[in-house]
Amino acid sequence: MAREVRLALVGFGNVGRRFAEQLGGSYARALRAAGVRVRVTGIATARHGGAIDSRGVDLERALRLAARGGSLTSLHRDRAVGDVREFIARVPADVLVEITTLDPRTGQPAAAHVRQALARGLHVVTANKGPVAFALRSLRALALRKGRLFLHEGAVMDGTPVFNLVARCLPGARIEGFRGTLNSTTNLVLSRMEQGLSRDAAVRDAQRLGIAEADPRNDLDGWDAAVKGCALANALMGASVRPSQVRRRGIAGVSLPGVRRALAAGFRTRLVVRGARSRGRVRVSVAPERIPLGDPLSGSGPDAALVLETDLMGEIGVFERGATVDQTAYALLSDLLEIVRRRRSKP
Ligand SMILES: NC(=O)c1ccc[n+]([C@@H]2O[C@H](COP(=O)([O-])OP(=O)(O)OC[C@H]3O[C@@H](n4cnc5c(N)ncnc54)[C@H](OP(=O)(O)O)[C@@H]3O)[C@@H](O)[C@H]2O)c1
Repeated sequence: MAREVRLALVGFGNVGRRFAEQLGGSYARALRAAGVRVRVTGIATARHGGAIDSRGVDLERALRLAARGGSLTSLHRDRAVGDVREFIARVPADVLVEITTLDPRTGQPAAAHVRQALARGLHVVTANKGPVAFALRSLRALALRKGRLFLHEGAVMDGTPVFNLVARCLPGARIEGFRGTLNSTTNLVLSRMEQGLSRDAAVRDAQRLGIAEADPRNDLDGWDAAVKGCALANALMGASVRPSQVRRRGIAGVSLPGVRRALAAGFRTRLVVRGARSRGRVRVSVAPERIPLGDPLSGSGPDAALVLETDLMGEIGVFERGATVDQTAYALLSDLLEIVRRRRSKP
């Protein structure tokens, strides 16, 4: 008989809604195959209300309401809930799915939500890089004490396996370092500059395509890449690096003639985030680099690529192509199935 897993979603924006849509759609087969049935028992948002229903929130109605920008409170079937803290404290769930908007300078409010849910004894999955970059060590320790899992595949490269890949498929191997082109805005802007666009025109193009945000500063100055680099270093290399400790240079100093000259000489210019062990510490850096054409990081367009340097398996590369919100929603499914698998294999 299928086992039931009760989910609470904190955040019901692009990712949360796509995940909810897919639960009744293309994820159903994978969940059935894993022998689980999923019931969403609560949804919380910042400004669009929330709902708790222990029998299962009506997701179709929730999606219709959200599509209109409406409030979810008409779906609430429980005592009144004051705020998100109270929601996390009360929602009848096994797994909290944390997908709120990130403050990339602090990792909040996600880190606080994850901490509260783990402390309450829930498993947590997230696509939010904040808790991984800012608070992973303490969150992992808390999860361990509580016998729960904190999984975050979507924090870097959406649903492309990075964290679960290392955890599941590289037993005994040590990650010695990594290099990646992980910020889609700068990947696209530099690609467009190679085609002759000025940096400002390239940024506008990235915004038109929905890849760059209205305020792209966190991407262009390398902060987003630094946060992702810390998430990787902390999760894969046992580090405790904060984004403020990253040696960071964005693409402000990259000129159009410089990019064009590099390309003519056989190099792409890309914003590269690196993690490396050095004198017993892990250091993370972000800077524009010249990448030889043919290198795994030399792809054109917004797509991300990552090379892991390992002691037992040499270099391993992963890349993603054409990522949309679908890949991020898939990251949540893959973490959820990983929780089901690990709980089943527990003696
Ligand atoms: N979009 C992607 O493709 C993608 C890719 C990788 C990672 N991610 C990460 O996934 C997370 C979600 O992204 P998204 O695109 O879905 O964001 P989004 O569309 O902006 O939605 C964010 C959701 O979080 C809610 N929220 C914000 N602050 C909250 C709080 N304090 N308490 C409760 N709910 C809160 C918002 O509520 P309101 O609707 O009321 O404002 C909204 O429902 C982010 O951390 C993002 O970095 C996204």
